[in-house]
Amino acid sequence: MKIGIIGSGNMGRSLGILWAEQGHQVYFGARTTEKGKAVADIAGNSTQGGINDEAAAFGEVLFYTIRGVNPQEVLSDIEVLSGKILIDCNNFEIPEGFAYPPIEQSLAEKLASEVPKVRLVKAFNTMAQELFELAPTPLKDYSVSCFVAGDDEEARNIVMKLAEDIGFNPVDCGGLRNARMLEGMGNFIRFMIIGQKLGSYATVSVNVLPPAQQERLGGRKVSSLN
Ligand SMILES: NC(=O)c1ccc[n+]([C@@H]2O[C@H](COP(=O)([O-])OP(=O)(O)OC[C@H]3O[C@@H](n4cnc5c(N)ncnc54)[C@H](OP(=O)(O)O)[C@@H]3O)[C@@H](O)[C@H]2O)c1
Repeated sequence: MKIGIIGSGNMGRSLGILWAEQGHQVYFGARTTEKGKAVADIAGNSTQGGINDEAAAFGEVLFYTIRGVNPQEVLSDIEVLSGKILIDCNNFEIPEGFAYPPIEQSLAEKLASEVPKVRLVKAFNTMAQELFELAPTPLKDYSVSCFVAGDDEEARNIVMKLAEDIGFNPVDCGGLRNARMLEGMGNFIRFMIIGQKLGSYATVSVNVLPPAQQERLGGRKVSSLN
């Protein structure tokens, strides 16, 4: 696929390099041509680099790494995003003492409201940059979840395939509203990594286990609670 990276910092550079290694065409965007080209030089694999406008025009899928900045401020014309898949990997800033307020609107929903014609998908926000250093192998041996939420099912499936390409176990998380939970998980994992000092190779995944052969605890009874 043709992938445009909007903001080629830690996340943009890492994912772009990995996707290019898997044969995708990647254009690294930055605020300056020099920065975009420098990242492409490091990435190799026929990647290109330039300003964010060029990356946005190039990609059918765009990876948006610029936290809390309205695309109107990043691109000269947001019409270039119309109909494209925009992957949002952003997490909230870490507040003092990890005292996060409840999430009433996710960063992803806010971004979608700023660019209504885009097919917005939340993904890649529950793992640290360091984890990508393990991709695609040995990462794929660990069945690490990449949670994917977005209202457009086809867009979600495309992003799940992109996650699978680089060694993740994609998990369909339904509509974009669920990005609130994914961003909550992003907050949680950073608390584990930094607050609880587990380090950047800690991550969150869902596991589906084989059912018990015998329900020796009596099994689940009808409950009066929801
Ligand atoms: N790093 C992680 O481990 C990790 C993991 C999961 C999710 N995330 C989330 O991913 C997002 C990006 O993180 P990162 O570590 O990649 O950050 P980063 O290395 O600081 O990169 C951020 C990018 O944003 C661009 N940028 C910043 N302000 C801008 C502005 N006003 N206009 C245009 N571009 C601007 C920078 O552009 P230039 O290149 O032009 O300077 C840079 O490429 C954050 O929301 C973070 O919470 C990070």
